[in-house]
Parts: sequence; structure tokens; C-alpha cells
Amino acid sequence: MSDMPPSKDTLSNLLAEDRRFPPPSGLAAEANVTASAYAEAASDRIAFWEEQARRLDWGRPWTSALEWDPPFAKWFNGGLLNVAVNAVDRHVDAGHGDQVAIHWEGEPGDTRTITYAQLKDEVCKAANALVELGVRAGDRVMIYLPMIPEAVFAMLACARLGAPHSVVFGGFSAEALRNRIEDARARILITADGGFRRGKPNALKPAADEAAEGTGIERVLVVRRTGEAVPFTEGRDVWWHDVVDRQPSAHTPEYFDAEQPLFILYTSGTTAKPKGILHTSGGYLTQAAYTHHAVFDLKPDTDVYWCAADIGWVTGHTYIVYGPLANRATQVMYEGTPDTPHRGRFWEIIQKYKVTLLYTAPTTIRTFMKWGDDIPAKFDLSSLRLLGSVGEPINPEAWIWYRDTIGGGRTPVVDTWWQTETGAIMISPLPGVTAAKPGSAQVALPGIAADVVDGDGVPVPDGGGGYLVLTEPWPSMLRGIWGDPERYADTYWSRFAEQGFYFAGDGAKKDGDGDLWLLGRVDDVMNVSGHRISTTEVESALVSNPQVAEAAVVGATDPTTGQGIVAFVILRGGTADKGPELAAELREHVAREIGPIAKPRQILVVPELPKTRSGKIMRRLLRDVAENRSLGDVTTLQDSSVMDLIAAKLPTSKED
Ligand code: PRX
Repeated sequence: MSDMPPSKDTLSNLLAEDRRFPPPSGLAAEANVTASAYAEAASDRIAFWEEQARRLDWGRPWTSALEWDPPFAKWFNGGLLNVAVNAVDRHVDAGHGDQVAIHWEGEPGDTRTITYAQLKDEVCKAANALVELGVRAGDRVMIYLPMIPEAVFAMLACARLGAPHSVVFGGFSAEALRNRIEDARARILITADGGFRRGKPNALKPAADEAAEGTGIERVLVVRRTGEAVPFTEGRDVWWHDVVDRQPSAHTPEYFDAEQPLFILYTSGTTAKPKGILHTSGGYLTQAAYTHHAVFDLKPDTDVYWCAADIGWVTGHTYIVYGPLANRATQVMYEGTPDTPHRGRFWEIIQKYKVTLLYTAPTTIRTFMKWGDDIPAKFDLSSLRLLGSVGEPINPEAWIWYRDTIGGGRTPVVDTWWQTETGAIMISPLPGVTAAKPGSAQVALPGIAADVVDGDGVPVPDGGGGYLVLTEPWPSMLRGIWGDPERYADTYWSRFAEQGFYFAGDGAKKDGDGDLWLLGRVDDVMNVSGHRISTTEVESALVSNPQVAEAAVVGATDPTTGQGIVAFVILRGGTADKGPELAAELREHVAREIGPIAKPRQILVVPELPKTRSGKIMRRLLRDVAENRSLGDVTTLQDSSVMDLIAAKLPTSKED
């Protein structure tokens, strides 16, 4: 663990925040979950979760609610269910087949309206097609798709077959996809010719081909979205419209064990190798459905819900696919970027579909703030009744802007803390109960046990700061890291092994009321626009370029993206520093290795890196340098002021 963010100034600024926003009385009176849930869950946590599990349809009830052999949990063991049936079929069977499940909005302005009955047909056809392509329960299926309805069909078809999916964000590179295919040992890949982004077709198939080459991928199912010409490998590749469309729309679901793997989602850790976070079925779906019901207060007959995340992240899994569909939501799904074809696109969509519940990330909110209040002012946003935030700490200023400018000063804002590993929301206000504090995620949800502890695992008193831990197992917890139980135990459970706490990797502070304020990562993981990227991953991408001898990467505070990636590189002997040209080359190289989201904001060529005596790079120093000076794309630091700056800081910086 390298250090504890953030600076004391940020902390005291946050804690000086004394505005309070009690729930609107109408919402509180009708809220799905009231204050009694806390007491109920506290009196018998396991019974509370059993009650939530009964929201789902089970083919056979569980025999034990929780088997906890730390750090391995089994929830609802002995129970049988089909996740896709819970998300789709049961709503149709209950007479809601004509209800819209998805209002899909393509970036170019094309739309598709998909009812629950149609969703059921599409999922069944896709499941039949996957069976024809050889998919059996337990097989891993890779999904590399843009934000099109087929992404949802494909995920649910896998769930229906008990075949865990592994969705890879469409913005990741061929190399990143290949690593994940190999780690998951997948035989099937579902992709598309491309998607629309910023007004242009954005090809995916060439990267999918490059990734699949030489791996165990035997069949590639390709959705036609852009219509652009793409390379096609005879015998391996098949078009979705050829294979899926001719399938029968009936498919008899099998019931699977509650612990049947549902998906693997790769996320960055502190090493260069992403971790395949494994989630299973019954516990995951229980907490996905419960938290969506409790935190968003969804009323399935009247609300229109929109989670503006991508399906490639856990937010898309839990709060586009599994939670909302299990709760029979009507939701909006949008393919593109917020500024295409104009910067009011989000607000236009909200006006068009009369969206009532919106869930997005602080980075996006801060971008909207930068673009100006006059843009949302042109649209009717009066349908909104609740706003959610996720992915990174939301600063009070952005929180207030979100509530006032987007929510018209009426809407509660729920700041939801969770992780790929937790599977679902863990810490959040309840919109009908909590008096909200701008910038604080506040308290653990009913049934969830979180605390802030010091380095010895001792809970800090109110007003103290330390490490965020989860002190009891929860239904949607990760069940492991795919293929690496040791790394699972080591990463999450060894830091506070004595206490048996799950260590989240985040710093947090308890205020005088015991409310939680999240302070960002305390490990070598950066959070750029709400996306996790490890410093080591970017460093190893940089050193894989023949011009680079050594690299050190830090996340520096960025007013819009939360953190920005700053790389310090030492060139190989004989390599000329070509200035901006070199920086551009290296940025492109990182984009090719990982994906454009991992491109460093700045690259600084340095003659040496500050290291401890044991050879560990002193990132804290580098972060100070990155934050204290606005430097150009490339600065040659040979004997220059930056090294002087580092030297000047040396005496006051503790070795980590
Ligand atoms: O540092 C925390 C931050 O995002 C990390 C989890 O990232 P990921 O697994 O990609 O999942 C993002 C979407 C759930 C956490 O360890 N984080 C997430 N939500 C918040 C947050 N930090 C502060 N406040 C939040 N609401």
C-alpha cells in the first residue's frame, strides 16, 4: 500500500459541508424502503437477505442461506433458479409482456422499442443460437459489443444457459481483449462490425479478429450494426442475423444452482494483469434487485429509468441488465456519447422519454457543468424525481449542481459506493429516508456491514479516517478471482486477516454523525473518469515500447476526470527524445496495448526516477510534481527544474 489520499485540505473542505437535504415528503411517504429496514436487517441480517431473495422466482428453495468458510461464501446454497427467467420470462408470465423493457436510442437517432415479450423472444433465440454454436452450461462466452440491444440479449442468453459471460468494454484494445479471452479460456466471442461514436462508425470487428487470432476462440458471432465492410473468417464467423433470427423463440430454461457462475468481469488491480472478478447467480441477483429497488425507489408501472453507463463495466451489468430487469423496469439505453450530435443530447433523451430516474458518474456531471447551465435549461427535465451518482467521489459542488440544475432542486441525489467486486451498491443514502449530505455516500445499506479502520484493523471513532472495510459477507460479493484463489485471498482478505475484514482498497472518513466520506484509492489503482486503471498496467504497456527503459505512472488530480494519468519515462540509451512526437507515439502505444481510456494525459521524459533505498519508486513525489506544475506534453527533465522540485521535496516526504 503506498499512501493515503487525499490532502488535508480536501478533507477539511469536505467536512465543512453542512448542508442537509431531507427527502421530499411525497417521495418519503411512498418510498419502497423506509427506515425500519435498518432495524429489521440489524436484528437478523441473514433472515433479511432471505426475505430479499424471495423477490426472485426459485425453481427450488435454498437449504442454507449462507455458508461462510472465509473468504469463500455460498449464498442460498441448494437453491435453483434461472437468472434470465427472473429478468424476463416471469414478467411476461405475469401479464406484463407489452410493457417496454428498453427504449433504445442509437447515436445517429435511430431507435428501437423492446417490450418484455420481445425481449423474451430475442433472448430465447439468442440462447438457441448459442446452443447451436456449441455453448454448454459452464462455458465462458466473451462479449465485445457496443451499446446495442444485442448486448443485453447476449448477456441474458448466456445467463439462461448457465454459461458465464465476460463482457469486455468496446473501448478496450485487441490486446486487452486477447488477454481476457485467454485468461477466461473462452471458445465463443460475440462482437459487432462496430458501433456509432461521435457521429462516426467505430469498427470493432478488426480488433476482435486480432484478439481472437491464435486463441481458443472457435466461433465468432457478429452483429451487424454499422453496415461497414468487415473481414470475415469463413467457418469461424457467423452473422447474428443469419444464425439468431432463424431460431425458434421458444427455449425451455434449465434451473441452475444458486452458485452457478453468472459472469466474469475483468478489472484492474495493483499488478499488470487484470483480475477476472467472478460473480454467481442467486446472491448476486438478490442484491442487484434489492438495491435497485431500495436506492432508486423504482416503481415499475410508472418510472422510466436510465443508467448512462456502458455494459462493459459492472454498473452496466448490475444496473442496466440484472437489477432493473429483475425489477421489471422500463429503461432507456443509449448507444453514444453525451455530445453527439450536440451537447444537450442527454437532456433531449430525458425530455423525450420522460425519464424519472437517472444514474451517471461524477465525471460526466462535471463535464456538463463545464459546458454550461444554458444547455440543460433548453429542455424539459421536470420528469426527473431522483438522481444517482457512481464511480468516484462526487465533490459537493457537482452534487449541488446535479440536484439544482438537472433535478430542479427537487430530486434527492444518491451517491452510491460499490465496486466490481461487491457486485452491487453497498453504501448509499436511501432516498426516502436519509437527509442527504452533498459529497457523502453516508451509510451502509440495510444488511450491509461497513466500517473505517486504522492500520491495525481497529475501527476509528467518529471524526477519524482510515481504510474502508466490509465486516460481514454479503450476497453479491465476488466469489473469487477467476483461476486464482490465492490472489483472491491475498488481495482482499490478507490486509485485515486477523479481523476477517474485506479490504476495499479505498480510504474513507467518518464524520461526527458516523456518515462515510469516500476518499479514493489507497493502492496503486487510479480512477480516471470512474474507470479503474492500475499504474502498473500502464507502466508495463509503456516499457513494452522499445524506446522506453523504465516508466513510473501516477494518477494526478484532474478537475474533470477525477484523476488524470501522468507518466514519467526514462528512455533507452541511444533513443532520441523527439519531444511531442515521442509523447504522441507513446500515448498511441498505450491505447493499442490497453485502450484509449488508459492514454496518459502527460508524458514526461526524465533522466532518472526518485526511488527509495530499496528501489521502490516514490510515487507520492511524482504525484506532487504532476500536480504542482502544469507541464507540456513532453518535458525533458535532464537536470531541470522538475528534478530540482523533486529534490526540494525529498526531506519532507516519508519513504513508503
Ligand atoms: O474507489 C472506489 C470508486 O471506484 C472503485 C470501484 O471501481 P469499479 O470496480 O470500476 O466500480 C465502479 C462502479 C461501481 C471503488 O473502489 N468508487 C465507486 N463508487 C464510488 C467510488 N468512490 C467514491 N464514491 C463513490 N460513490
